Amino acid sequence: MKVLIAGATGGIGSQALRQSLAHPRITKVVTFTRRSLSLEHPKLESILIKNFEEWPEHVLSQHADAAGIIWCIGSYSGDEKLDFEYSVAFMEAMVQVLDAKKRDAPFRYVHLSGKFVRQDQSLNLWWGDRPRKLKGKSDTAALEMAEKHAAAWHTHVVKPGGVAHHPWQALGVWLMGDNWAVRGQELGAFMAYLVVDGQGESSTILNNRIAQKGRALLREA
Ligand SMILES: NC(=O)c1ccc[n+]([C@@H]2O[C@H](COP(=O)([O-])OP(=O)(O)OC[C@H]3O[C@@H](n4cnc5c(N)ncnc54)[C@H](OP(=O)(O)O)[C@@H]3O)[C@@H](O)[C@H]2O)c1
Repeated sequence: MKVLIAGATGGIGSQALRQSLAHPRITKVVTFTRRSLSLEHPKLESILIKNFEEWPEHVLSQHADAAGIIWCIGSYSGDEKLDFEYSVAFMEAMVQVLDAKKRDAPFRYVHLSGKFVRQDQSLNLWWGDRPRKLKGKSDTAALEMAEKHAAAWHTHVVKPGGVAHHPWQALGVWLMGDNWAVRGQELGAFMAYLVVDGQGESSTILNNRIAQKGRALLREA
């Protein structure tokens, strides 16, 4: 099974990449990045993208057989392109390619969002709301894409709380509990599982489910 990843060079995307490469049912991982990956692996194909606002049909049609994509591009500062425009550009281009192909199952779009991201665009309480509102717009666009193209597209919006990447943060994760924090490896394992096996999972998934299922997946591996 082939899986696509955007943002595989990032803190969370690199965990999604590691866990996808380790997943027994994933036979090929294709990454879309703006710089080369410092990793070689027999399952890995890395594609450099110059402009994430433009997704040529000939690039995407080669990957219309993928189970789906794990989308991990995003900013912490509220960047219109990174937090909204790039993901929408990909979705709109990919769904056109998929609509023209016959598939057995819908393309699964796993969209990295966050616990504090909100979809209510009317609120504007303080300057720090900007990143969350932009991400909220992109969550809404991803969910609407699945409604409009139900046969071809399925969206999972993944909303982790704090993501810990270092072993010394383990105590903090434990103290914060499953509603608030998750280890990067657990999140990576959960997103890899979701893109290939997510048919029973909700469209919007909270930290609690990510942490508990992610832990179980790592124990079973
Ligand atoms: N860490 C947390 O606790 C947490 C929790 C919930 C949600 N989130 C959200 O998850 C997202 C990813 O987090 P992260 O820690 O993985 O971030 P990160 O390490 O900064 O990774 C961001 C990714 O986006 C890519 N990117 C940045 N600018 C780009 C551009 N102009 N064109 C194309 N790609 C670009 C980066 O590529 P390069 O490597 O080439 O720069 C990288 O792959 C963020 O939006 C964050 O808000 C984080």
